[in-house]
Amino acid sequence: MRKPFVAGNWKMNTDSRSGVELAERIASGSAQTAGQEVTVAVCPPFVYLQAVAKALSASSIAVGAQDIYFEPKGAFTGEISTSMLKDVGCCYCLCGHSERRHVLGESDELINKKVTAAIAGGLLPILCVGELLEEREASQTNEVVTRQVKEGLAGLSAEKIPAVTIAYEPVWAIGTGLTATPQQAQEVHDFIRKLLAEMYDEEIAGEIRILYGGSVKPGNAADLMGRQDIDGSLVGGASLKADDFLAIIQAAV
Ligand code: PGA
Repeated sequence: MRKPFVAGNWKMNTDSRSGVELAERIASGSAQTAGQEVTVAVCPPFVYLQAVAKALSASSIAVGAQDIYFEPKGAFTGEISTSMLKDVGCCYCLCGHSERRHVLGESDELINKKVTAAIAGGLLPILCVGELLEEREASQTNEVVTRQVKEGLAGLSAEKIPAVTIAYEPVWAIGTGLTATPQQAQEVHDFIRKLLAEMYDEEIAGEIRILYGGSVKPGNAADLMGRQDIDGSLVGGASLKADDFLAIIQAAV
């Protein structure tokens, strides 16, 4: 049985005061559900991770980073390692978010190094995959997602793979107000789960949580997460409003 998982990706938003306030409001509003009925995580910008982790220390809400670098330390100006993230209280990290793929130019090969390093360093990676609008229109969704999942998880043994969560986020639905219909999302989630069964086995595929992301809002969350293979949400814009994020958490229960 897969426990639902709702993660908030704050992207490049908040400041030290508003980030802590947002975290506190989410913690107090989800005290009955977070951790027990639903896994909840927030991913603030790097510079606020420590303050947010401290604000959430008495809650069951986990903290995640929006990215990591795969090297453990050294001359990598501007980068942040797994051990640094663990040191400030992180448990999860996003890998290969669409904005990192398409704005910052990250390749599947780099993303694979990040996923591998995250697991080796004791973080739980959330591997983000999803097609562009032109790829969907050209009926290439399954092909793109296959490449991103296979290359993103390359070299990971069956023992390591339970650490991974997958987030399917069609790029055309991120921050646009356009959401995949629950049916469209379910089809891709089902496809990804079958792909995982091929790559590993049915049992492992049945345990891995696959989140949907892309304009998840209180109004569409229950419908999306009610589908068989949609195990939760990766929420951008709506995770910046405590009431909206809390309603999405509630919809996951
Ligand atoms: P959105 O972002 O909810 O604002 O569409 C989702 C994401 O990028 O993870």
